[in-house]
Amino acid sequence: MATVLILGAASDMAVAIARKFASQGFGIQLAARNTVRVQPLQSDIAIRYNVPCTVHEFDAVQFNSHQAFWNELPVKPDITVCVFGYLGDNETARADWQECQRIIETNYTGAVSILNIVSNDYAAQNKGTIVGISSVAGQRGRQSNYIYGSAKAGFTAYLSGLRNRMFHEGVHVVSVQPGFVYTRMTENLTLPPLLTAKPEDVANVVYKAVLSKKNIVYVKWFWRWIMLIITSIPEFIFKKLKL
Ligand SMILES: NC(=O)c1ccc[n+]([C@@H]2O[C@H](COP(=O)([O-])OP(=O)(O)OC[C@H]3O[C@@H](n4cnc5c(N)ncnc54)[C@H](OP(=O)(O)O)[C@@H]3O)[C@@H](O)[C@H]2O)c1
Repeated sequence: MATVLILGAASDMAVAIARKFASQGFGIQLAARNTVRVQPLQSDIAIRYNVPCTVHEFDAVQFNSHQAFWNELPVKPDITVCVFGYLGDNETARADWQECQRIIETNYTGAVSILNIVSNDYAAQNKGTIVGISSVAGQRGRQSNYIYGSAKAGFTAYLSGLRNRMFHEGVHVVSVQPGFVYTRMTENLTLPPLLTAKPEDVANVVYKAVLSKKNIVYVKWFWRWIMLIITSIPEFIFKKLKL
């Protein structure tokens, strides 16, 4: 039975991804910084889908713990999905380095730290799939969230390079570019319903992308075209917009 490791397993998207893979017979490893929060999900998955489901402590910004975390997994997963992230508050982060650092380290440094370890192991075995949940926010910096967006831009570029490097080792890398999704991260924002996906939509897209070895996937197809328009706006106009 193939196993999927989910990093950031308490997130709403992660819960949907875990359920999707479990429903298709995959074993699940739930990795979260607060393991108590994912225990009900663990029991539910094990009972409902009759697949092995384990819980593991993982903190994305405790970089020095990442190698031990990987070494101690009871079985090495065939698929690793990197879901954790932190939106933060851009205005706070402009003035407060701790908030700024947390945004950068959660979305970029932490992801690079753990995925270097995972990909090196996969490369040694010439197999494995890595999925990274990045964001369309990384495609052009906007005044409302450019610190988060720049960290996601770094993560998107990392995934692109990793896919290129790992292709030669038989390891596949999927980049996921969600637009708006209804989750705990966005619960205080007013999102346009027509443009906003549900966590289950993300899970379906991730599942299909892994099976069909897609490289870059958008959750709602039109976000590709929205971002094409946004990235095509000339800078002398873009800088005056309130986005
Ligand atoms: N929602 C959107 O509109 C949207 C759009 C584009 C991309 N994304 C990306 O989608 C991914 C999932 O986010 P979501 O929308 O499902 O939001 P969410 O429910 O807020 O999930 C974020 C998760 O990241 C975890 N996390 C934060 N810092 C961590 C750390 N240091 N170590 C381990 N885990 C940590 C959180 O853990 P706790 O549960 O312990 O707080 C939480 O479970 C993120 O990468 C996000 O950037 C979201």
